[in-house]
Amino acid sequence: MQKYIGLLFSIVVILVSACGGNENANSRASDSEPKEISGYQIYKTHCRQCHGVDGRMGLNGAKPIPDSELSLEERILHISNGKGAMQPYKGLLSEEKIKAVAEYTMTLGKE
Ligand code: HEC
Repeated sequence: MQKYIGLLFSIVVILVSACGGNENANSRASDSEPKEISGYQIYKTHCRQCHGVDGRMGLNGAKPIPDSELSLEERILHISNGKGAMQPYKGLLSEEKIKAVAEYTMTLGKE
């Protein structure tokens, strides 16, 4: 019996320290999250539902982004003002964010 109590006690200790360790890891991860604007993050949140991860999903007639011949400036305009089924993002995203996501679309399917 003595043996089991000892075993039980060490299991509890291991569990408690394992949980504590996880908590630390989580808070460290959120501390080191990138602060800069990420075109990839914006794309994931606002664009992927129509254009897909690789830019080729084409929902509602969205053109495949990897085949697009639009320049960066044209993309910024297109994203700001919208076109067809695509809404204007001017009021939704800051200029910086529109530029970041436009830059990201230039790299889609190119790697
Ligand atoms: C509601 C669906 C939808 C969402 C969300 C959406 N788009 Fe579009 N997108 C479209 C459609 C439809 C077109 C084609 C418009 C047309 O030419 O009539 C398009 C066209 C484009 C084009 C031009 C491709 C070309 O060569 O003509 C780019 C670049 C683009 N989208 C980027 C984005 C970005 C960046 C986002 C996120 C900020 C986004 N889209 C969000 C539907 C969407």
